[in-house]
Amino acid sequence: MKNSINIAVVIIIAMSITSCFDSKKPNYRYMPNMYTSLALETDSEHEILPNGQADLLPVEATIPRGWMPYGYENTIEGKASATSDLKNPSKVSEENLTKGKELYRIFCSVCHGDKGDGQGILVKREKFLGIPSFSDKGRNITEGNIYHVMMYGLNSMGSYASQTSEEDRWQIAMHVLDLKSTLNGNPLWSSTQKNSGDTISEQENASNEAH
Ligand code: HEC
Repeated sequence: MKNSINIAVVIIIAMSITSCFDSKKPNYRYMPNMYTSLALETDSEHEILPNGQADLLPVEATIPRGWMPYGYENTIEGKASATSDLKNPSKVSEENLTKGKELYRIFCSVCHGDKGDGQGILVKREKFLGIPSFSDKGRNITEGNIYHVMMYGLNSMGSYASQTSEEDRWQIAMHVLDLKSTLNGNPLWSSTQKNSGDTISEQENASNEAH
């Protein structure tokens, strides 16, 4: 008798728990954020947003991380003011010169030549013409001017703004000015000037031998 009462109680409890269950309706969800992300899905549509979709343009005047606005325009006047006013914020150091040389040989040597005399491999093979020497008297090559042409390019020379960082460009500019003064016969900064036509590894060998 007692047993059948127990069984009846269990059946009643089980029925009362399951009776309200409706598999067509959603039930309890634990940690709903894991199912429904708060972030909007890429490309999804949302009426409340200005253009009806999740892809929005950055707020006006937004600056990408690590990018600094450049205050000189891509005009003749902009180039002239960069040539006279824009100064290299990095200090002349062996480290900056070495890095600048490395980058110069990656990006610029093919046309301008390792020495900056306008005799790069593309010129020697007659693939590219009209490359000036950095010591060209008719060109007022200053650190600001070098930086400016790397930002915007100049006629058939392309821009290097997307491939180099601000620091890279200043290091390259430092090296180009170094090449210019070497071509003019009065090396300015680097103690390794006399080897400036060598490859970096040749220079390292030379300096290792000297030690
Ligand atoms: C594809 C060949 C090419 C490459 C690579 C190249 N340049 Fe040039 N560069 C030119 C040409 C051509 C000119 C002359 C443009 C003119 O005056 O019309 C020039 C001119 C210059 C000038 C003189 C600007 C002036 O005001 O007269 C500088 C400085 C310069 N380049 C620096 C660089 C640096 C630094 C790099 C590497 C980041 C570089 N160039 C890469 C082709 C190149």
